[in-house]
Amino acid sequence: MADAKKIAGVIGWPVSHSLSPRLHGYWLKHYNIEGEYKAVTVLPDELDLFIKSLPDHGWQGCNITLPHKEAVLPLLDSMDEVAKAIGAVNTIVVENGLLRGTNTDAFGFSENIRPHITGKNKAVMLGAGGAAKAICYALEGLGFKEIIAVNRTKEKSDALAAQFVKVKVGEWDKRAELLAGADLLVNTTSLGMTGKEALDIDLALLPKSALVTDIVYTPLMTPLLEAAKARGNPVVDGLGMLLYQAVPGFEAWFGVKPEVTPELREHVLA
Ligand code: ATR
Repeated sequence: MADAKKIAGVIGWPVSHSLSPRLHGYWLKHYNIEGEYKAVTVLPDELDLFIKSLPDHGWQGCNITLPHKEAVLPLLDSMDEVAKAIGAVNTIVVENGLLRGTNTDAFGFSENIRPHITGKNKAVMLGAGGAAKAICYALEGLGFKEIIAVNRTKEKSDALAAQFVKVKVGEWDKRAELLAGADLLVNTTSLGMTGKEALDIDLALLPKSALVTDIVYTPLMTPLLEAAKARGNPVVDGLGMLLYQAVPGFEAWFGVKPEVTPELREHVLA
């Protein structure tokens, strides 16, 4: 008897704009796997029931997106060290009927920038929202000696500094000065996204060798990346983070470690 079709998907609210179905759908076809990757709208008051019934509905697991990445924690049977350290889960794997949570956002961020890093002494990270925790974890894992978290609302960057040993807090109003001597500048705020205002930062003090990256990928070249590129800094756009974060989930659910390729990028962007 043939194996039953394997099912996974992304759950969130809203999910209609998620690129994950295109991404996983490409790999399912490319690797000729009999599987399906769905996008399911799950409201906050439906989360408990939906997550607990994943095994009964034959799902191999799922991606969790906004606003459920933290709310899902108490519903799981176990979490790995990464998910515990970040305090958020973006990937659930069903194993023997039990729900294991992990977080692959840090992996995605690291894989995306790893080949382009030009130094690991000082990183300046703008923003301290949901994504910033995974980025701090990734920057520590990559070996950055000092990570300066700079956020408009200082309480949130203070919380990151309490959570991660290498993280220190910088003043939002001093963000331009803090760029002196940096090896990496990463934007984790939503500024620069299509429809939002651009990030307002003077790059004059940023060394020309510093890598600049953005987790915003709509547009691919944010005003920050455009400005950095124009003055000669190496830049990496945020789409790769999305592509790489999907690799561990796909492998766990469908049994094949998929590759991130230029063709995949083209397909997701099309
Ligand atoms: P979350 O990721 O927690 O849902 P968000 O609303 O998406 O939060 O915002 C992500 C980040 O963008 C936050 O660091 C936020 O700064 P605050 O903590 O001060 O809200 C930052 N951000 C959003 N709009 C901003 C703006 N106009 N100026 C500066 N930072 C901004």
